[in-house]
Amino acid sequence: MKHLIDVLDLTVQEIDALIERAADIVEHPDRYAHVCARKKLAALFFEPSTRTRLSFEAAMYELGGNVIGFSDADSSSAAKGESVSDTIRVVCSYADIIAMRHPKEGAPMVASLKSTVPIINAGDGGHNHPTQTLTDLFTIRREFGRLDGLTIGCCGDLKFGRTVHSLLNAMSRYTGVKFVLISPEELRVPEYLRKELLVERNLDYVETTDLESALPDLDVLYMTRVQRERFFNEQDYIRLKDSYVLTREKMALAKDTARILHPLPRVNEISVDVDDDPRAAYFRQAENGKYIRMALIMKLLEVEV
Ligand code: NCD
Repeated sequence: MKHLIDVLDLTVQEIDALIERAADIVEHPDRYAHVCARKKLAALFFEPSTRTRLSFEAAMYELGGNVIGFSDADSSSAAKGESVSDTIRVVCSYADIIAMRHPKEGAPMVASLKSTVPIINAGDGGHNHPTQTLTDLFTIRREFGRLDGLTIGCCGDLKFGRTVHSLLNAMSRYTGVKFVLISPEELRVPEYLRKELLVERNLDYVETTDLESALPDLDVLYMTRVQRERFFNEQDYIRLKDSYVLTREKMALAKDTARILHPLPRVNEISVDVDDDPRAAYFRQAENGKYIRMALIMKLLEVEV
């Protein structure tokens, strides 16, 4: 049985196959309408979510399956002190597959040790978010037709932003990719990622605090929100939250062929007047999340058309 805890649990070939499958689902949704009939997805969300949870739920419904779960830890037995392990041992007797988001790094991995059904990490603390990365890769492929040879700027909270951590891991396996890491000093990528990924794997990367000077070189600008809930101190959050704001004026510095991605939710970091720019791909990206999650559920449940 396979789980998806880290994006590197999937080979490049497996990711390619998921992207092909998602593209086929976009073209032929009717072919997939019943493939998960009588199957149940449990969506266990111990942390807030809109897109990830609802796109998982929509994905399962569009495959003909059903959904159970909770969207608030306080309405689950976690509020009574139940451990993740115990919750999982019980839920896997009710569901065929589990998507789980948790504020503690590593919680989905712990769950996978106890589970008799596939576990999908839907975000664990400030660590990883592999299904957002599948969404991002599918989006980049749809927008550019390729994943190789791109210059990718990640901007904002690179310390706590789990989507960036998974994206860097995933994109590091494609050739000719350059990374521009744009953040305030305090929110640079964590040391373990710099050492184990950027340095040891000899990736082509630069770190800067300056968005405007980086913009003209970027194919993809991946904006992120400053992750308020991960700060120890509200004062630090307030000081850093508006470090970068992408505006229509700044978009004039970007290539005509550039694309702006954002996992959403956006707070202030992209002004709404950017939304109508054809290079703003973040709402298309959110839609893509449903199709790639359909492909992933099918893979992990080993169902075919
Ligand atoms: C992201 C997350 O939860 O990490 N949202 C998402 O899943 N699309 C990004 C964020 O919360 O900033």
